[in-house]
Amino acid sequence: MALIIDKDEIIGTLKRELQEITNMQEFQNLKSKYLGKKSLIKSLMNNLKDIDDVELKKEYGKSVNELKEELETIFDEKLSELKEKEREEKEKKNWVDITIPGARRKVGKENLITKTRKEIEEIFIGMGFSVAEGPEIENSWYNFDALNTPEWHPAREMQDTFYLSLDKEKLLRTHTSPVQVRTMLKSKPPLAIISPGRVYRKDELDATHSPVFHQVEGLYVDRNVSVSHLKMYLEVFAQKFFGNKVSILLRPSYFPFTEPSFEVDISCIFCGGKGCNVCKNTGWIEILGAGLVHPNVFRSVNYDPKVWQGFAFGMGIERVAMLKYNIPDIREFYKNDARFIENL
Ligand code: FA5
Repeated sequence: MALIIDKDEIIGTLKRELQEITNMQEFQNLKSKYLGKKSLIKSLMNNLKDIDDVELKKEYGKSVNELKEELETIFDEKLSELKEKEREEKEKKNWVDITIPGARRKVGKENLITKTRKEIEEIFIGMGFSVAEGPEIENSWYNFDALNTPEWHPAREMQDTFYLSLDKEKLLRTHTSPVQVRTMLKSKPPLAIISPGRVYRKDELDATHSPVFHQVEGLYVDRNVSVSHLKMYLEVFAQKFFGNKVSILLRPSYFPFTEPSFEVDISCIFCGGKGCNVCKNTGWIEILGAGLVHPNVFRSVNYDPKVWQGFAFGMGIERVAMLKYNIPDIREFYKNDARFIENL
């Protein structure tokens, strides 16, 4: 039995072994090899029971204890070294460069038809008009009859209609003009309203036509209203909407619910009226239909046409938005192409 403990040898070996240790698991294994239940220290301690000489026993026990304490100190130092290493690695892994700019969230944009509708509303509200609404599913009386377009009238064919019932009583409104009728039935003159909304026609989808599109109706009723009122309001609108240089032109046209009736053009905003591709070299671009309210329309809502006159107009929202925002094809509005929406 060797009672001489070679401390330097043991500590030297331990230090070499500790150099190989890179993680906690290896550390714990090594520590139990030296200090655990079946460790070197334990077996050295076990030797004590075989020493009879009291002095020797004391001395031996003391040197085992000293060795144990030294080993513990060495292990403690290694442990804090390992912990520090672990902390540094964790820090490195979780390191955040706070100088890098944050990821931007894309913010949605207002739909261009909505934006244009609001612009139109704002201009007319500024001129004393209020906003009225009506249903998209209409009775043929509001869409046609009350607007001086009885069933036998050839003008019913002017707008190809989506009917919802075989007797052609229920339909998808073909224009916003029925809101004129609904408003006049509800209120007494004088009045000034605009009515934006969705309308439906059996039109083929092409660059300038859609079977579902939006209109804004305008209706102004008072005493002594003439075409000059119509022209003044529309001119102010056109200049506020398209710019001060724009002028308007009234061309004779036909609608059953107005007399006289006009197609209203604006001077071409692309060439200033000189003539270009967009205005087909005419210098003018059509934006809406208008006229003075037909006496028969007043009769169908019980207004006396001898006392009351009025003007009305209807414009396509997509069409004026296309002009103002330079959009060559109406189909862009309905494609949901992110590039189109982002570039507005
Ligand atoms: C009418 O709908 C009349 N109700 C307008 C009116 C109201 C006249 C009050 C007199 C008094 P029209 O069918 O021309 O008119 O249509 C008006 C506008 O709607 C057109 O100038 C055009 O800008 C737009 N529009 C017509 N059809 C389509 C379509 N398929 N797609 C997109 N826009 C259209």
